[in-house]
Amino acid sequence: MGASPDEIVLSASTTVNLHALVSTFYEPKGRRTKIVADELNFPSDIYALESEIRLKGLDPREHLVLVRSRDGRIIDEEDVLAAFDDSVALALLPGVLYRSGQLLDMERLTSAAHKRGIVIGFDCAHSAGALPHDLSKWGADFAFWCSYKYLNGGPGSPAFLYVNRKHFHRTPGLAGWFGYDKARQFDMALEFHHARSAGGWQIGTPSVLSASTVLPSLELFGRAGMERLRKKSLALTDFLMAMVDGVLSREPYGYSVGTPREAARRGGHVSLEHHEAWRICQALKKRRIIPDFRPPRVIRIAPVPLYNSFGDVLAVARALKEIVDRREYEAFSTQRDAVS
Ligand SMILES: Cc1ncc(COP(=O)(O)O)c(C=O)c1O
Repeated sequence: MGASPDEIVLSASTTVNLHALVSTFYEPKGRRTKIVADELNFPSDIYALESEIRLKGLDPREHLVLVRSRDGRIIDEEDVLAAFDDSVALALLPGVLYRSGQLLDMERLTSAAHKRGIVIGFDCAHSAGALPHDLSKWGADFAFWCSYKYLNGGPGSPAFLYVNRKHFHRTPGLAGWFGYDKARQFDMALEFHHARSAGGWQIGTPSVLSASTVLPSLELFGRAGMERLRKKSLALTDFLMAMVDGVLSREPYGYSVGTPREAARRGGHVSLEHHEAWRICQALKKRRIIPDFRPPRVIRIAPVPLYNSFGDVLAVARALKEIVDRREYEAFSTQRDAVS
């Protein structure tokens, strides 16, 4: 992630970490009262930001500015910059957008936010483990992410948070004994002395069994190296997109790519769009290929560079073709399940 070890800590879940950080860094004062986010961000972030605004006694309808997407897929960074004015106290943006896979230029956004006196943080749930970061060099104020997506920690594995060391002196907004100075946590003193590290933003006892799943995965990441994984990930997703362009976008298949093409503008997944996305996802699952459906018409395919091969990607492309050739998707209901 491009940070020193004391700037990152494993803690809680993504949304809880957002609360721990935003409750600390959102300090509406005078004219600066607004939070800038984007309308394509994962809804949990928006719910959490609205509640953080309410907790400060303000009205989210007035104080949460959602940058609009021009096409429903990507966020134009120029539109974000245009929203950065002197009424903004804090900005929270995704590293990679969960639906389209667009990668935002976190360095550029951080520098623009700081020039305008805005504190900025990133939800890196879809960028952590998918590409190298340089959070401290970029100067991001805070960030958080889960370990159950690209970090391969498995279902229910916990999240991480990052606090830039320039903020270590700040009192955490959601204090708890796990944020206490680590050497003295078990002294049981009533006066709160928070750890001068990201560990100050931990709240309570981590789920140790879940946390234990992250370590073996991170060891593999350490051995493989993030740069090499990113290179293979881009090659795998390029390969998939080439097959969409060559065959799957033609009639009768009708798939299209909703992810930006340039390597510098995309994360680790390909967002395939199709009007039968939901039922095609069911047909893929029946073939033991695990995609992810996102309404209204997105099939997310994330080849994992640690263990997926180019042969796997070819098999997925073949499956996407055959599901349409043989109308396999028609065997499934158009009624969506609660979990997609
Ligand atoms: C971008 C993003 N942010 C936040 C979350 C919420 O994560 P959690 O359930 O760990 O709070 C998710 C979950 O998928 C996500 O994709």
